[in-house]
Amino acid sequence: MSRKILVTNALPYANGDIHLGHLVGYIQGDIWVRYQRMRGNTVHYVCADDTHGTPIMLRAEKEGITPETLIGRVHGEHLRDFTDFGVGFDNYHSTHSEENRAYAEEVYKRLTAAKLIETRSIEQFYDPVKEMFLPDRFIKGECPKCGAADQYGDNCEVCGAAYAPTELKNPYSAVSGAKPVLRTSEHYFFRLSDPRAVAFLREWTRGTNAAGTRRLQAEAANKMKEWLGEAGQEGENTLSDWDISRDAPYFGFEIPGAPGKYFYVWLDAPIGYLASFRNLADKRGDIVVEDFVEAARAEAAGTEMVHFIGKDILYFHALFWPAMLQFAGLRTPSQLCVNGFLTVDGAKMSKSRGTFITARSYVTQGLNPEWLRYYFATKSNGTMEDVDLNLDDMIAKVNSDLVGKYVNIASRCAGFITKRFGGKLGTADAAATAAFKSAFEAGTIAQAYEERDYGRALREIMHLADLANQYVNDQKPWELAKQEGREADLHVVCSTALTLFRDLTLYLKPVLPTLAAKVEAFLAIGTLGWQGEWQALPAGHAVNVYAHLMTRVERKQIDALLEANRESLAPAAAAPAAKTASSQQRHAKKQQHEAQAAETASPHISIDDFTKVDLRIARIVGAEHVDGADKLIRLQLDIGEDKPRQVFAGIKSAYDPAALVGRLTVMVANLAPRKMKFGMSEGMVLAASDADGKTGGLYILSPDAGAVAGMRVK
Ligand code: MSP
Ligand code: ZN
Repeated sequence: MSRKILVTNALPYANGDIHLGHLVGYIQGDIWVRYQRMRGNTVHYVCADDTHGTPIMLRAEKEGITPETLIGRVHGEHLRDFTDFGVGFDNYHSTHSEENRAYAEEVYKRLTAAKLIETRSIEQFYDPVKEMFLPDRFIKGECPKCGAADQYGDNCEVCGAAYAPTELKNPYSAVSGAKPVLRTSEHYFFRLSDPRAVAFLREWTRGTNAAGTRRLQAEAANKMKEWLGEAGQEGENTLSDWDISRDAPYFGFEIPGAPGKYFYVWLDAPIGYLASFRNLADKRGDIVVEDFVEAARAEAAGTEMVHFIGKDILYFHALFWPAMLQFAGLRTPSQLCVNGFLTVDGAKMSKSRGTFITARSYVTQGLNPEWLRYYFATKSNGTMEDVDLNLDDMIAKVNSDLVGKYVNIASRCAGFITKRFGGKLGTADAAATAAFKSAFEAGTIAQAYEERDYGRALREIMHLADLANQYVNDQKPWELAKQEGREADLHVVCSTALTLFRDLTLYLKPVLPTLAAKVEAFLAIGTLGWQGEWQALPAGHAVNVYAHLMTRVERKQIDALLEANRESLAPAAAAPAAKTASSQQRHAKKQQHEAQAAETASPHISIDDFTKVDLRIARIVGAEHVDGADKLIRLQLDIGEDKPRQVFAGIKSAYDPAALVGRLTVMVANLAPRKMKFGMSEGMVLAASDADGKTGGLYILSPDAGAVAGMRVK
């Protein structure tokens, strides 16, 4: 019986680039979806950008744009990245959508009716300058345990201590630098401490779904046991209630009936799965959403809902999300497929080593996305273990498995079919194909795909590729081709090899969809579906001219990729979650190119003249009026040096100092320091203005998203 499955991947935050770490889970999800479809199952595969919350609000503000503009731009970038890596969502929506608002309000209404929402006053740090409550990661100060400076509000990166933000010594707001004050505010809570919730979650996290598959991988279920404890146990664990509201200013959905209160981003984020699905259904017209979403209907219809997520967000998906769904009368997830984290060459991704690799840079550097899909698949075993991208190993695996074994079969035989047999296949060798057939069971590969143990599936497939190669090696078509009277044998050998190649392609197709499509075109066969039975291509079937299918990976391509992602200057301490320098570097390279081209024309300055000016991205960490100066603002500019530079800028007419703090701009860093009446000025900020500098206003510059204090502008 064919399955009906709604599959989702975690919704990436709309304030950062997709990097290779993200891609681990998306590629795993996409492979599973493609496999299920090849089996004839119906799959709806959806995702969206996760657009709400304080970081996105502040990021937009810093860029001087609205959050809507920011998330609109990022949506396009993310979708393009996923598409380039073959991750084929049926719909890529946004949590900032009417569908999501409707679902969030509905879920909230149902939870309220179930008496699981309550309000309570809590005390929290508030930034009196920025006039907002501060999330933990926007509060910094000295670690209460070891005294290390500039630690975040929840834990110390130096000694590892965990604490409440109120325990920090000399706390300050990472947004404005102001000293935060404690303020009380009313918050909305989802009562997870309710015995119904705890009992439900204990059962849910340990159980199996309708098909008898565990909802959680063994390791994930164990983690949940630690958090949930056992019923009737001494000191029985209960869950804390979950704070689901945030105060304005906040970018999100206002809570109905609660002006100035917003749903916390993690409330509406998973609901975004349903919103994206609803949006897809509205576009398509042939999907009955309720059969996948409402508890009773879903059970009757036998539909499934499967989430692919990374291990860092297990807690949200295994506790809050199923509890929300359950008590809102909605269907709970059939399965969580949790992936581990990516390391590169055995270490955390690092900007200085260039291993914080963006999806975009990988594509623009000309690397083949299917190399990465293949390598990630060989390293996926269906567990939560971390995945290491060992770059030399990736080169070796791709070159030896895909190019050396798989593609090699076709490239050694296809030419003869074209040149000697008018492009038509002959009869395949029955004995050879029988041997091939008995060497494997399609069921083993299928089961490995089903369990997301892609590494095992590929080992099995490569074993078959070895057998096919062995056959070609033994039969030596290139020698047959030179021998008189062996035409018929040559025809059989090449036809057999291409049939084996067709089957290998079929099994590789979930991992390598683009390559498989090329092979389908070359072999002039329809779309390959999964088949248990081996079938020869019929004699007389005409194939197309073979064109090269895949090139080898070269180490120098990998080195160039690392170079493109390497950040040379250490980012400033307070740098936001920034993207890599690659786009800046590309822009810079392009500019350099243009500058070099311009050099030859005489009324221009030379590139050397230009590079004498040391322009840097600077973060404004302080800004104040200067007593007795009617044009000046005193700026403190962080360009990644030990201490900020003091610069006096004549921009008082156009800017309120408080609005400048936290922004990035551009400064001339090697201007000779100048002693002014009010103190030393150690540089200059750039601003646009009319020719006379008086009418039309003044505008300081902002870099594109991702630039980090200290970066050189050239
Ligand atoms: N917005 C949340 C998810 C909301 S789902 C309702 C989020 N976004 S994220 O952009 O930080 O991460 C998106 C996905 O990528 C998550 O599944 C996360 O676990 C995964 N990964 C992010 N960095 C990763 C690695 N370095 N390695 C593997 N997966 C990683 O979390
Ligand atoms: Zn510490």
